[in-house]
Amino acid sequence: MKTPDPTRKVHIRTYGCQMNVYDSERMADALAVAGYAPVDSPESADLILLNTCHIREKAAEKVYSEIGRLRALKIRAAAEGRSVTIGVAGCVAQAEGDEIMRRAPAVDLVVGPQSYQRLPDLVAAAGRGRVVATDFAVAEKFDALDRMTARPRAALGATPRYAAFLTVQEGCDKFCAFCVVPYTRGAEVSRPVAAIVAEATRLAAEGVREVTLLGQNVNAWRGEGPDGNDLGLGRLLFRLAEIPGIDRLRYTTSHPNDMDDALIAAHRDLDALMPYLHLPVQSGSDRILAAMNRRHRRADYLHTIDRIRAARPGLALAGDFIVGFPGETEEDFADSLRIVDEVGYASAFSFKYSPRPGTPAAAMEQVPEPVMAGRLARLQAAINASQARFNASRVGEPAEVLFERTGRHPGQIVGRSPWLSPVQVDGDPALIGSIRPVTITAAGPNSLFGTLAGGVRGPRPLMAEAAA
Ligand code: SAH
Ligand code: SF4
Ligand code: F3S
Repeated sequence: MKTPDPTRKVHIRTYGCQMNVYDSERMADALAVAGYAPVDSPESADLILLNTCHIREKAAEKVYSEIGRLRALKIRAAAEGRSVTIGVAGCVAQAEGDEIMRRAPAVDLVVGPQSYQRLPDLVAAAGRGRVVATDFAVAEKFDALDRMTARPRAALGATPRYAAFLTVQEGCDKFCAFCVVPYTRGAEVSRPVAAIVAEATRLAAEGVREVTLLGQNVNAWRGEGPDGNDLGLGRLLFRLAEIPGIDRLRYTTSHPNDMDDALIAAHRDLDALMPYLHLPVQSGSDRILAAMNRRHRRADYLHTIDRIRAARPGLALAGDFIVGFPGETEEDFADSLRIVDEVGYASAFSFKYSPRPGTPAAAMEQVPEPVMAGRLARLQAAINASQARFNASRVGEPAEVLFERTGRHPGQIVGRSPWLSPVQVDGDPALIGSIRPVTITAAGPNSLFGTLAGGVRGPRPLMAEAAA
C-alpha cells in the first residue's frame, strides 16, 4: 500500500501506565498510515487524542479539565476556518464513553483500548458525526495493527530510541476488589509468539537494545511453542534473547500468583533478563489482602520473593501499595509498613485508595481521607528510606549501563542500570546507544552517579566502531 504524504497532524497526549505509552505509539503508527504526522503541541494539530487512565478518580477527572481547554482551542481554530477533531481513547473512554459524550460536546470520537485498529476509519467517520467505539476485540486488534504498521519509525522522523515497550498480554481476569482494569481492558489475552518475535525483531532493526514486555498481568502470558507445547513467559524471554541486537529484557507488571518456576529459573539462567522485578503486593495485611481478593497471603508473597532472590541475588524489587482500603485498621497498616522493610524495596509506588464505580470495594465502608493521608505519608517515608538503602548498597559496585540520552548538565549522559535506576556519568554523547561498564560512585534519592570503566559489552559494537 502506498502511504499518502502526511498532510494532517495528530497530537496524542498520554496518561496512566506504560501500556498506554505503548498504545499511543501504535495509534501514531496506525494514523501515520492514514496520512497523519505526529506533532508535539495541540495548537497545530488537526486531530487531538487523549489517551486516558481510569485507575483513580483524580486520573479520570484530569481528562474532563483537559477537554475543557481543548474545547477553547477548537473554538479558536473554527474562527480561523480550521476544523479540529477531538478524540478520547484509553480506559476512561472504555469506562465512561457515553458519559463523555453527554458531558463534553466538544468530543467528536470516543475509542476504547480494544478498537485502535479501527482508528483511521473512526477518525474519518468522526468528521461526519460523533462516534463511540468501545467493543472488545483484542486478538483482532493486534493482528490488524501488525498488518498496518508499514513504516519504520525512522521514516516518521522519530528520534532514535534504545529501549522500547512491547505489549505481549492485555487484560486481567483477577478482579481485585478495588480495580477497574478488568472492566476497562477486558479478559486476559496473550499475543502469539510469532507476532511478539516479529515485533521485537523490528525493534532491534530500529536500534532498540532493551525491550520491556508489557501486560496488565504480564507473567500470566501463555503461548504455544514450536512443538505445540504450552509456553509461559520464562520460555518466551529465552526466545526473545536469541534475537540479534536484543541485549536486555524486562517485563512488567506481574501478579505474585503467576511467578512460576520457569520464570524464576529465567532470572537465574538468562543473562539478558535484567535483575529487576516489579511485583505489587498492595497490602502487608492478610485480612486486607483477603478483602482485596488478591488470593495470596503475606507469607506467600515473601516466600516467592525468597525464591526469586535465591535465583538472582541482588535483584531489585519494586512494589505497589494501596493505603486506606476499606476496613484497613492501624494494625493492618502497620503490617504494610513492616513488609517494606522485610522486602527491602528498591522502589515502590503507593496510593491512597480511590473508590472506583462498579468495583466491589466502592460499596464498602470507606476510611476517612485524613487517616489515609497520614498513612500515605508514613508509608512513603518508609519506602524512601528503603530506596535510599538500596541505592547506597550499589555504591562501589560495577554496573552495565545502557546510555539513552544526554543529561541536564553539559558533558553528562544518562542511562539505566540493570536495576532500572537512572545512572548519570560524565561522558561523550557518542556513547548514547551503547552498553558500558560503569562503577557506581554515589547515590542520590532517585538516581545513581558513576564513572565510566573501559570496554564495551555485548555482541554489538558502537555504530562508529562498526564502520571503522
Ligand atoms: N496489574 C497490576 C496493576 C495495575 S494498576 C497489578 O496487578 O499489580 C497499578 C496500581 O494502581 C496497582 O498496583 C494499585 O496499587 C493501584 N490501584 C489500582 N486501583 C486502585 C484504586 N482503586 N485506588 C488506588 N490505587 C489503585
Ligand atoms: Fe487490577 Fe488486580 Fe488485575 Fe492488577 S491483578 S490489573 S490490580 S485487578
Ligand atoms: Fe490506567 Fe488503564 Fe493503565 S486504567 S493504569 S491506563 S490499564
